[in-house]
Amino acid sequence: MMKKEYTELIKWSDRFSCGIKLIDDQHKELVILVNEMFNHVAGNEIQENEYINEIIHKTIKYIKIHFVTEEKLMLAAKIPGYAAHKKAHARFIITVVDAINDYNAGKRFNLYAFTKFLKEWILSHIALMDKQYFGQIKILPAEKPGQMRLAMQKQL
Ligand code: FEO
Repeated sequence: MMKKEYTELIKWSDRFSCGIKLIDDQHKELVILVNEMFNHVAGNEIQENEYINEIIHKTIKYIKIHFVTEEKLMLAAKIPGYAAHKKAHARFIITVVDAINDYNAGKRFNLYAFTKFLKEWILSHIALMDKQYFGQIKILPAEKPGQMRLAMQKQL
């Protein structure tokens, strides 16, 4: 059998970068995760379910860690719009958890649609919202990036 070619559903680009290494590194990991998922779309429910069982908890755990990291940094730097950003994270978590709950209740998990949803989210949230929010750090008063560095050190 011929080996299936690996497809990059999303290719990391500098235009996604928000300029904070810790956040960019986590975003890159998310891009890798979504690409991995996309390459496990088989169209075969049994095969896909095996993969979903293995990956879904890792995904949700990783996303939660990422959101907590971002929210702590935003709070430390007192970035305006923190509450709106936190709300956007919460909405995303609800959508993902709903999909998992439906799956656990016996509904087919559409891995293809899920990866497309994650792609759209990366293109809109990471490439636009995160970038815009963290971009504000460049125009913050001098002491704020210092607070941010302290918060980042605590994350590492
Ligand atoms: Fe990178 Fe706001 O999530």
